[in-house]
Amino acid sequence: MAHVGDVRLTVDGKTRELPIERATVGNDGLSIATLLRDTGLVTIDPGFVNTASCSSAITYIDGDDGILRYRGYPIDQLAGQSTFLEVAHLLIHGSLPSADLLNAIENRVARHMQVHDGIKAFLEAFPRDAHPMAVLSGAISALAAFYPDSTGRGEYEVELATVLLLAKTATVIAYLQRRSVGGDFIDPKKGGTDYVEEFLRLTFAPSDAPYEANPIIRRAMDLLLILHADHEQNCSTSTVRIVGSSHANIYASISAGVGALSGPLHGGANEAALRMFDEIKESGDSIEQFVAKVKDRSEGARLMGFGHRVYKSYDPRGAVVKGLADEVLVALGGNAELFDMAKRLEEIALSDDYFIERKLYPNVDFYTGLIYKAMGFPTGMFTPLFALGRVPGWIAHWREMVRDPQTKIGRPRQVYIGESERAYVPMEERP
Ligand code: CMC
Repeated sequence: MAHVGDVRLTVDGKTRELPIERATVGNDGLSIATLLRDTGLVTIDPGFVNTASCSSAITYIDGDDGILRYRGYPIDQLAGQSTFLEVAHLLIHGSLPSADLLNAIENRVARHMQVHDGIKAFLEAFPRDAHPMAVLSGAISALAAFYPDSTGRGEYEVELATVLLLAKTATVIAYLQRRSVGGDFIDPKKGGTDYVEEFLRLTFAPSDAPYEANPIIRRAMDLLLILHADHEQNCSTSTVRIVGSSHANIYASISAGVGALSGPLHGGANEAALRMFDEIKESGDSIEQFVAKVKDRSEGARLMGFGHRVYKSYDPRGAVVKGLADEVLVALGGNAELFDMAKRLEEIALSDDYFIERKLYPNVDFYTGLIYKAMGFPTGMFTPLFALGRVPGWIAHWREMVRDPQTKIGRPRQVYIGESERAYVPMEERP
């Protein structure tokens, strides 16, 4: 990516040089921090397509070349060799942990997986068929009420909240699944256990019998959590940062991030993609007919799990997920028909001018639902699983935002297009 030289802006005949913030790699940033004060102008950038909201050292994406790196490490290397808590530490603290440190982190997180009885009662208060994302957002926000000693911005409190969020979000999500299928909550082991294995045990173990996770499911879960762990300034992470910028506590911030993630254009796309495959199957339409409907746009149908704001080539996470789907679905069986349909849909879309011209490729959400389904998760749980993976990223960004001296409360401006001024009309004089 070429770095830009000087940039000058002339407004009403007066020229100013705009400072450029240099990136280590990727797009440099043109600073307009004093634009309003100097010129009286604001900028308009719907969807923040051209706007960097902050400087960040956590995750790098090159959308043209399909590159994703956490703290400089390529995603395929982490996916192939790391574990989720190792990646969580990397994202949050900036370096890969030693074996001893990782062991200490795993034990500390495991000791905190127990949730307060009040949280269990909270989860039980919702209808069994409530969407788990609605409950998850509330439960994470409620953690602030149960653990008030961890709601501050000091080092001790933030470290504690980091551990509590990693630990308790896993238990809450496992309990959401148990509740949705009518099972009792079982207690976490409080130590000596692997995070992903314990999450799977809390989710799937029968109340009265031991449970050992299928190694294929265990590895797939770890890998999927790693792939979802961060994605720089996406919609939910930007939400977490902006909520936190008001000095709201980390739980309130991440709870808002869960809300943002639930939308079908964001994390909710994994659920929407699977529903789309089911609908195509049930409708009896051919894949070509469905693609024609998407291109026609009159019904507002989108190819869910396709397209991305940043990636204009294959999403590197999507490539790993497709390989994983191949392995998991063959090993666990089932879903073969839907998987074949998804692959055919991808093939047709990738050779169609509509998708080629707009550089639309499968994203991480296109195949994940099929894998989660094969692993035994109901459709409503797909986006909570994305959320569990994204927790370290949200935490890392919240912490970076809090420490950044440039952080100011997030407060965009507007270009007002309403009435300028009018006199109040008394009720009896209104038409
Ligand atoms: N199916 C059909 N057309 C599409 C799609 C799609 N999935 N995505 C984009 N387009 C078209 C869009 O209609 C537009 O066409 P035109 O220029 O003729 O108006 C063009 O491609 C550019 O789309 P856009 O909506 O301006 O792009 P965006 O960067 O604002 O949106 C997106 C990105 C991910 C919201 C969008 O591609 C989309 O809605 N995809 C489907 C939902 C999805 O899979 N989301 C998951 C994203 S990855 C994981 C995550 O973030 O959680």
